[in-house]
Amino acid sequence: MSALAPNYKRKNLSFARGKGSFLITANGKKYLDFVQGIAVNSLGHANDKLIRAINKQSKKLWHVSNAFRIPEGEKLASKLVKKTFADSIIFQNSGAEATEAAIKVARRYFYSIGKKNKNRIICIKNSFHGRTIAAIHASGSKKMTEGFGPKIPGFDHFEFGDHKKLKSLINKNTAAIMIETIMGEGGIKVIPDWCIRSIRQLCNKKGILLILDEVQCGIGRSGKFFAFEHAKVKPDIVPIAKGIGGGFPIGAVLMTKKVSKAMVPGTHGSTFGGNPLAMAVGNAVIDQINNKLLNNVKKMSKYFISSLNQLKMKYPNTIKEVRGVGLLIGIQLFSDQTFFIKKLMENRLLTIRASENVIRILPPLNVKKSEIDLALRTLNKVCKEVN
Ligand SMILES: Cc1ncc(COP(=O)(O)O)c(C=O)c1O
Repeated sequence: MSALAPNYKRKNLSFARGKGSFLITANGKKYLDFVQGIAVNSLGHANDKLIRAINKQSKKLWHVSNAFRIPEGEKLASKLVKKTFADSIIFQNSGAEATEAAIKVARRYFYSIGKKNKNRIICIKNSFHGRTIAAIHASGSKKMTEGFGPKIPGFDHFEFGDHKKLKSLINKNTAAIMIETIMGEGGIKVIPDWCIRSIRQLCNKKGILLILDEVQCGIGRSGKFFAFEHAKVKPDIVPIAKGIGGGFPIGAVLMTKKVSKAMVPGTHGSTFGGNPLAMAVGNAVIDQINNKLLNNVKKMSKYFISSLNQLKMKYPNTIKEVRGVGLLIGIQLFSDQTFFIKKLMENRLLTIRASENVIRILPPLNVKKSEIDLALRTLNKVCKEVN
């Protein structure tokens, strides 16, 4: 009996080390890891430059309070600003904290301009913005909120694709629309570029803010630094986490100057957020998210997705749809995916579930073609077995 609480349904498998796309057990069994900590290890396991950065910083300074200047954080913030729509950043430690901070920024912005009741946030029903109390209510999922009442007010929901409902929800108290640019946990549901553009236009027309949650799909995973760049829009607020830390817990909220002005001293804070050790790793991650890496994502994605569509044609009774952008890929099955994922694991390929019978595939951004070929061979073998 483990001393850990039973809140995770863990597989009876553990690892002693990792390198690149692979995880290795204590007795030397090697697994192709296409989960990568759920889109966290953007550069794979044990990336040399990240090891060097954390070793170097760990000998100098781990943590100081945000009461003092943190040069490593200022450096990372200025790199993020240079690369993106953002004018300023608040660092956090996780995705849920980043999405909650995004909600706070939106509300505080309207408060600061005297519109105190403009505080409601519109979200997609059954989306995923994290597991903290406000984030689960923002997600609007019965499963996640069950038993965690009372309901947190201030969130309105529409079903994915129900544009009429979305428009009808906007009223004088609406502060923002908050959506994942690509819904990860929800089944790798890609919001089309034209749709992201129309939501941006709608926000402009109604004078409300657009929050795009890029915790899972951001930091190069889509083939661009941010997934919304495909739609050529500029959001107002963007929470990030996962990939920016490459395995070290980092979250952040990125925002425009217009809204960041409201975040005056005392409005938000975090003890650990943006400490020197985390920021040293973040800097070493972002320095590697360059055009060469993004081109690898695009190239590998094209090859992987087209090969998966061939597999779908070969096994039309097993695979219903191949979804995704970049290296955020979903294979939707006709039936529950649990058995299929177990079979893949027995064949040393690690994947993870998402809603709607989807098998989620998240290779590191520097994945090699030979590793994708290995995954394709395993997927083909399991398709054959379950067919
Ligand atoms: C889109 C999105 N937002 C927020 C979160 C929450 O992140 P964390 O688990 O780091 O709190 C996740 C995590 O999967 C996510 O995918």
